[in-house]
Amino acid sequence: MNSEPRTSVHGTWSGRWTFILAAAGSAVGLGNIWKFPYMAGENGGGAFVLIYLICILLIGVPIMVAEILIGRRGRSSPANSMEYLAKEANTFPAWKLLGVMGAVAGLLILSFYSVAAGWAVAYIFEGFNGTSANYYGESFDSFLQDETSLLFFHSIFILTTVAIVARGVIKGLEVWINRLMPILFIIVILLCLYATQTGAFFEGVAYLFTPDFSKINGSIILAALGQAFFTLSLGMGAIMAYGAYMPSKQNIGSTAISVAFLDTSVALLAGMAIFPIVFANDLQTASGPGLVFVTLPWAFVNMPLGLLFGKLFFILLSIAALSSAISLLEPGVAWFVESFKTKRYVAAIGLGLIAWTLGIFSALSFGLLSDFTLVGDRNFFDSMDFLSNQILLPLGGIFIAIFVGWVMKKEKVLEELEIKNELIIKVWFFFLKYIAPLTIVMIFVEGLT
Ligand code: PHE
Repeated sequence: MNSEPRTSVHGTWSGRWTFILAAAGSAVGLGNIWKFPYMAGENGGGAFVLIYLICILLIGVPIMVAEILIGRRGRSSPANSMEYLAKEANTFPAWKLLGVMGAVAGLLILSFYSVAAGWAVAYIFEGFNGTSANYYGESFDSFLQDETSLLFFHSIFILTTVAIVARGVIKGLEVWINRLMPILFIIVILLCLYATQTGAFFEGVAYLFTPDFSKINGSIILAALGQAFFTLSLGMGAIMAYGAYMPSKQNIGSTAISVAFLDTSVALLAGMAIFPIVFANDLQTASGPGLVFVTLPWAFVNMPLGLLFGKLFFILLSIAALSSAISLLEPGVAWFVESFKTKRYVAAIGLGLIAWTLGIFSALSFGLLSDFTLVGDRNFFDSMDFLSNQILLPLGGIFIAIFVGWVMKKEKVLEELEIKNELIIKVWFFFLKYIAPLTIVMIFVEGLT
């Protein structure tokens, strides 16, 4: 039992499974189905995938446990949980800034995430009757030049996110998320079955799972690390915010492992569905952000009941994106509600407006603003993506690991964890205290220089 049981003003998840589903809802999203395959394709396939898996296991899972733990013990928004735990550990209140930085990172991610989610929403209206895979390549390229549609779908998506967060995450999510996520999982498996029929299944799978280490360099390792954080929703407080609503009886360790396992399975299955289609149709593996919008529509054209499955797939992908977007906005909104006594809907609209405005630049960065570069030679969209995923999230991860590993009193940590097995505790502490922070710093040094 906690020495001082606290409850969150925003509520507590009702069922035992709801936290897992909510955390999985945050984790599983565009990161798995849209971003993972195109990152793997741009970074040479197998070796990238291997490093990504290692990062998930050795860095992601230990940090996820730490994040849930901070949230559940603090029982409030990431910023205030950090403040509370810093006080409990008799250390600087400035640790609160970690939560504030997370809320900011959440808005940056939401701004471009919403644009990509808008693409998924737009594809619900596709007829799935194109004539070739290349046809879908061209139609995605011309879609990126259609400013009105891009801004329309971006706006619809942010608006829906804001509406749900305004009502309260728990009410907004619990009702439907546990019914819909399993259906998405089934469609992705169906797509894998289709991929076995393309004639290039083994080529696609070999591409994903045969590492070619000559392709590896510092920036690819950094990209894999960033993707591991992004896909597990780590480093910015999303999982921390949800941890605050987790019942105190639930075991944090096994929960984190279930979420990471589910999330990784969806990403790998998506890759196994997409790459065979790439090879069977002589498409480029490095097709960039359009990859899933080119390959999967063509799969639906060729599949029995393809129109139905196609629409269902993009509907569910949009919903998966929505349940992730909610968790991007929640840390900031919960903090405003607690600390500035703002009404929930006012905070949600205000912060949503910031993300929406930034997102306009991302939406236009493949057309009108394509010559405008921000970080290196990256356009606005890619700059937001790079800054948040490859810098802010891993940086947040370092501080979370240091806080739980070094700053919090060990007995408090153990009290919250409720793990009896000495060995597991030792291994977890070792990864949290040494492996995670040191590896991230090393990857930064390699990848950014
Ligand atoms: N994990 C989500 C996805 O894969 C994105 C996300 C990142 C959500 C960070 C919350 C926090 O789509």
